[in-house]
Formats: sequence, structure tokens, C-alpha cells
Amino acid sequence: MNIKKILLKDLEDCFLHLDYPFDDLSLSFSNRPEEFDYTCNSAFSLAKKMHTSPEIIANSIIANLKQDIAEVSFAKPGFINFRIKDEVLSKYLNDALSNSRLLLETKETKYKVVMDYGGANVAKELHIGHLRSPVIGESFARLYKLLGDEVITDTHLGDWGLQMGLTIAQLKDDGYVAGYFDESKTNKKITLDTLNEEYPKASLRKKTDEEFCKRAEVYTKYIQEKKEPYWSIYETIRDISVSRIKLNYEKLNCYFDLWYGESTSSKYVDEVVKIFKDKGLIREHEGALVVDVAREGENIPIEKKNPDDPQLYKNPMPPVYLKKSNGADVYDTTDIATIYQRNLDFNPDKIIYFTDKRQFLHFERCFRAVKMAGISPENQDLVFVGFGTINGTDGKPFKTRSGDTIKLEDIINLITTSAQKKLTENGFDENPELALKIGVAALKFGDLSNYPNKDYVFDIDKFASFEGKTGPYIQYTGARINSLLKKAELDKTKLEFLDSMNFINISDQNQRNIAINFLKLQESYYSCYKESSLSPLCQAIYDFASSYSKFYNDTRILTEGDDNKKNSYLAISHLVLRALIQATDVLAFEIPERM
Ligand code: ARG
Repeated sequence: MNIKKILLKDLEDCFLHLDYPFDDLSLSFSNRPEEFDYTCNSAFSLAKKMHTSPEIIANSIIANLKQDIAEVSFAKPGFINFRIKDEVLSKYLNDALSNSRLLLETKETKYKVVMDYGGANVAKELHIGHLRSPVIGESFARLYKLLGDEVITDTHLGDWGLQMGLTIAQLKDDGYVAGYFDESKTNKKITLDTLNEEYPKASLRKKTDEEFCKRAEVYTKYIQEKKEPYWSIYETIRDISVSRIKLNYEKLNCYFDLWYGESTSSKYVDEVVKIFKDKGLIREHEGALVVDVAREGENIPIEKKNPDDPQLYKNPMPPVYLKKSNGADVYDTTDIATIYQRNLDFNPDKIIYFTDKRQFLHFERCFRAVKMAGISPENQDLVFVGFGTINGTDGKPFKTRSGDTIKLEDIINLITTSAQKKLTENGFDENPELALKIGVAALKFGDLSNYPNKDYVFDIDKFASFEGKTGPYIQYTGARINSLLKKAELDKTKLEFLDSMNFINISDQNQRNIAINFLKLQESYYSCYKESSLSPLCQAIYDFASSYSKFYNDTRILTEGDDNKKNSYLAISHLVLRALIQATDVLAFEIPERM
């Protein structure tokens, strides 16, 4: 049973009977929740079409509704309001409680989806710019799975670019890898700290030292050709880097099916280039192989000063680069080859990318190229979810006090420290595990409650607060229920019994509010899916948790003398806990036992 569907069916039958067009049928949650649950606004558009008053239309609809599950009433000038009967809501909650998915339906059409997020770069340290992709991507992966899609997640490491050559050149200059080149010499041990020092050094040098930069480009090419000893050094760097990246992602509850990288697709590059060549799509440009992807109107010619000048364009959609003039692969190459590889391996209906929105043009160009070449079938959806910047409370990109980019690990530490402070205030001992759990919730909820494409302010104190629309507040609500159930001495077996006994009997407005907010929560998963944002879920889970808090504060649960009432209260509480767990699992944080 789905309450909204039953109401819609009643409306549809009525529309059919009255010969009203279905296009005008609408039903949404009421904005007068104390009195009504759903509202239908169809009378307004119908009245316009039929040159009559909304009141007449609304009443004709009401007169023809079965009204089995809701009391229906008219409100001026043309609203049709529904108030679901208490016993119907009770039955729905009881049914949900005895269902492992809490009656959350899966989508009718299910897809196979590859999700590409994380995207850490080997040899470079993770920084604040790498926070949103794993956070948003992981939650989307969980949402899609919950709604029935088959999801394959791939972190797509940045492991094929110039940073690799730069790092090796610097390591070589600093004597770390002498033994790789000359057996009589020894290598110095390379650790993560080494990489954290060497790459930034190399990156600085690149700007001023031309010889160094050229050498790094050559080394990058060598790696791409798997030439020794460059390849072995590369593999060492990659392993050191990846183990650390994994650790950080795990702290954020981000797990990937595939730890592939740009390098994984390199074996397909030749095939891919051939496909473009055979289709006549390749143009040579100063020794590089490019594919033009601009469409009509996007290439605005700049007037030539001399007839012999080359034609230049204003704001063009730049061509895709398949090969650099030295034959090396670039970012475009690996992304295109990766689409080819994913189609060979999985043939997905959709591939979704989660990166900084400034990469829009890169993906748009790659998507166009693979469609032109037939590497991505016509009906395959290639989706780019671009996200905005994380700002400090001053409204500028979040930086350290000294103005440096802040490391991802430091962000996690900052928020964990803030969570520990709150715990200490509440009388808890030092508890790093719990503090991390809360910190992660603070960070994720703070991010996900925004639409991805929006910038947001990283306000640690606000995010880590146990009150208001925050992750810790959601956790706190759940932890309170955990303690309540413990105090009621309900262990796992007793809870299973509680869930199966249809104890819930809604008897006041607080309980109704929980029920309606539960319906809203269930619907919000679908809004998230449609809107490509977790924001609707964050709002719904907050409203839901708040409605429970009100009930909790107003109701004497454990001391209730009437067993039927007490069981109903406990069952409602357990339903709320389970719904919070289902929702926070999508947001990829946990409800603690206590906090
Ligand atoms: N490594 C890239 C970066 O740091 C992100 C990778 C995103 N995914 C992709 N398929 N290009 O910007």
C-alpha cells in the first residue's frame, strides 16, 4: 500500500468519470500540516479551461471521490484537502515496521550505472578540493542502489599525468632513486612524507625551470610506454599514494568497487585512436591529434586582418586532444578511453561523473567526441554532476590561516576536534572513534544539504552543533532512541517482536506529524533522484527527526501505565530509528549507540 498512490487512484477514477484531463491532476503535501496532509490544486487550472469557478470544479471532484482512506474537504477558493484517517496511517506505519525496506519502493525501471567519483591524484596530497566528489558520489551510489539500480563505483585515480613525471624527476634529482638507474648505488626510502615534499617542490620548479619541465614530460611519456626503470618507480609511488588515499576515503565511509585509474584505460588508447581515425574525425594540429567537437554557432570566426592569416575563432568549444605532439596521452585521452573500457566491461545505461563544476567543458567535449565516434551508444546517458566551491566564513575559498590550500586530512581533524569538544561538554571522555563518526556526519550533512552546483560556507561550529539542521542532530535523535530502547530492555529479539505486532496506534497530532514526515522522507529519495541532489533528503530527514523530538519531549514513554499505549510509543520510536538508519546510510554516516 502506498498512501499517495491510493489517493491518486481515487482522483484518477474521478477524473475519468468527470471527463477531466489527467494533465491537470496534481497532488502534493499540504502546506497546512496541522490540519491537512495532502492538497489537490487541480480545480484552478481546470476552471480556467472550462470557464467556470474553481469552487464548482473542486466540489464536483469531492462529490465523486471514494474517500476511503482520507477525509476530504473544500477550502476557498478551490483547494481540495485530504486528511488521512488515523487508522490508515497506523496501518501504514505497522506495515512499514514489519518490512525490511520500510515499504520504500524501488523504481519501476532499473538501470546499470557506472559512477565515477573520488578522483584523487597519485603523488599529490588530497586537499579540500577533493572533499566533495567522494562525499557526493558515495551518497548518490547508495541512493541509486537503494532505489534498485545496479551501481558500479570507480574512483578513477589521476595516475597518468605530468605530476608523475614531475615527481620522478624531482626524486631523481634528490637522489632517492639512484639505485634504479645504477645497480652500484642505493635507493633512499620513499615514504608518503617524501612524496608530500617532492611533488610540491617539483610543481614550483616547473614554473621556472624549463629543462626540468621538459625532462618531466619525457619521463611522463616513458611511464606511459612502461619503460624501465621509470615504470617501477611509478608503481612504487602509486602504491604508497593509493594506500593513503584509501585510508582517507575510508574515514569518510567511501568505498569503491574499482580502484582503476587513468592508467587502466591506457591499453585501449590505440584502439580508440583508430576508431576516430577510421571515421575520419581526426585532424592534426601542430603535431597533436585533435577531434573537433564544436557545433554550428559555437565557432565564431574572428575577422582576418590579412587574407593569408589562419582562421581564428572566438569562444570556441575547443577540440578534444587525443595525443599531444610528443605522442603522450592527456586528460581527454584517458577519459575517452575509459568510456570505451567501461562499455567493454559493463555496457552501462548511464555513466555519472562527480567533479568540480569547472570541469564541465572537459566532460562536455569528451561526451561529444565519444558520441560522434560511436564509442558511447546513442541511448547511453553520460551525465556530469558538477559541484561548487567550499568557502570559508569570509566567503572566499576555504584556506589555512597562512593562506595555503587546506589538506583533506586536516579538514577531517578539525571537524573531529570540534565534535570531541562538544562531547566533552556533554560529559563524555576522550572518544576518538565516536568523535570521528560525529565529525564525518557534520561534514557530510553540511555538504549534502546544499545543491551540488552551489558553493557553500564551511562553518565548522555550525556543522558540528548537536542542534539545528545538522548531521550530529540527526545522530543525536537516533542515539536518544537507542538509549530509550535500551532502557525499555528491548534486545534484538524483543525488537523484532515489537516490529511484527502491529502495535502502532496513532492517537495524537505529534504522532500524526511523525507519520506524515515519514511519508515525506520516503518521497524525498525520489526527489533526490530526479533533482540530482541529496538536499531534499537532508531536509526531509531533519523535519522527520524534529517531529520525533517534539513527540519525545511531550510524551511520557517509559512511564506510560497503559501497555497498549506504551507499546505503540516504543514501536513508533523504533520505526523512527530504522528510518533514520535507512536515510543516514544513504548520506553515508552512522547513528551511534549513544552520544
Ligand atoms: N583526477 C581528477 C582531478 O583531480 C578528477 C577525476 C574525475 N574523473 C574523471 N573521469 N575525469 O581533477
